[in-house]
Amino acid sequence: ASLAGVDDEVPPPNRTQNRLSPPLPRAPQAFRNEPDTDPSLVANRVWARGILERSATSTLGSATIAAARIDDAARLDALVRAAAEAGAHWARVPAHARAELLDRCAEVLAVSRGRLVEVMASETGKTLAEADAEVSEAVDFALYCAERARELGSIRDASFVPAGLTLVVPPWNFPVSIPAGGVLAALAAGSAVILKPAPQARRAGAVLAEALWEAGVPRELLVLVDVDEGELGRRLVTAPELGRVVLTGAYETAALFRSWRPELPLLAETSGKNAIVVTPSADLDLAVKDLVASAFGNAGQKCSAASLAILVGSVGDSKRFRRQLADAVTSLAVGYPQDPASVVGPIIEPLRGKLARGLTQLDEGESWLVKPRQLDASDRLWSPGVRDGVVAGSDFHRTEYFGPVLGLMRAADLDEALALQNAVAYGLTAGIHSLDADEVAHWVDAVQAGNLYVNRPITGAIVRRQPFGGWKRSSVGPGAKAGGPNTLLVLGSWHPVPAAP
Ligand code: SER
Repeated sequence: ASLAGVDDEVPPPNRTQNRLSPPLPRAPQAFRNEPDTDPSLVANRVWARGILERSATSTLGSATIAAARIDDAARLDALVRAAAEAGAHWARVPAHARAELLDRCAEVLAVSRGRLVEVMASETGKTLAEADAEVSEAVDFALYCAERARELGSIRDASFVPAGLTLVVPPWNFPVSIPAGGVLAALAAGSAVILKPAPQARRAGAVLAEALWEAGVPRELLVLVDVDEGELGRRLVTAPELGRVVLTGAYETAALFRSWRPELPLLAETSGKNAIVVTPSADLDLAVKDLVASAFGNAGQKCSAASLAILVGSVGDSKRFRRQLADAVTSLAVGYPQDPASVVGPIIEPLRGKLARGLTQLDEGESWLVKPRQLDASDRLWSPGVRDGVVAGSDFHRTEYFGPVLGLMRAADLDEALALQNAVAYGLTAGIHSLDADEVAHWVDAVQAGNLYVNRPITGAIVRRQPFGGWKRSSVGPGAKAGGPNTLLVLGSWHPVPAAP
């Protein structure tokens, strides 16, 4: 099947070409993570170039999102009611049948890689590698949710009752994989879904919804709704039909939702302020590489990104480490995604607000190891920066800036580093670079974050291998991790099956 405007779409060559052996059987036999497009193959590079060229003028998703626009309360109420009714039927479909639909979603998402990458590059400025990985994650979510639905269906001594109509409110920085994760989990758990894409990534949400409808998800079971985040947004979040709201976004948004409706059944993954500790035992070359990848992937616009490096003891005094870090950061290719060589893409909108301070102003005691530069008149393309001498308790130490800027702090020893790392209100990701097993064990025991990474980057969690979720102010609600074994369990409740007479 083809959608209007994407007749020339072809599945990416890597679907068949970057494997040495024939494709493995799909679920339910075996879950396996979907591979990213392999850029070492010429065919894949040609394929990617075509997509990125199209992204410059792409209008994918425009018609669908225009149709999903809602400006009046009566229409919104009617849609919510209809979705709730559809969900009541879906809840009675056996879990294994729901799983089959999820399998089809995985297939269609996989062959939709091109249009999903195109719309992300076009609308949010995601670079090829980042957008490509996001599609793989969306496919993983579909297969994984199918697997979990089959597991639900195999439990005999209790019955699972879906939470009911689920509102999914994703962020703009992962405009495909995060909504896919929420939508697919809710469908797998037996609920209807309303998807409200982020305003900066409406078309990406529309293209995702198109792919899922094409896979066979009924339109009344997955309803795309585009409302402003004012009065109608509030009406949507407080609709009495909602059984669950799945939010990924700022902690303040979760707090706002709760202020609108204190008993809101909310499952939210919220902000982060994440640090990587580097101890004198570390492989410093590796630490530099992983810091750069963690801080500047997607231009630092990830809740999981490294925002701080806490340098322990002699690392803080190492001129070689600083020089290597500065060299690595200044050699990053900054550019729009239409250039396939771009590693760091644009920020989501012209520089303003808090990030403007983060990229242009220093706080007391700080200096620039690498000063960010504005690279064009759009004010969206900024070369990444590194702030040296971030002071304990300062704003940069404790709050999220969400952009291409990394701060360096010093600690006398590992315990001081841990104290700095744990002094923030959030607890999403945390990393350590150390080759000392005792140090690592002590750190793992004491650090307060949902996702811990040792001697590797702290972004890019992989479904099922690294379930992803936060601690402290990085999570609101029951706190089940995305891509982990409890994904579906928190989207419903358990009731005992009455004993047979
Ligand atoms: N799951 C993403 C990561 O691990 C963030 O949402 O980077």
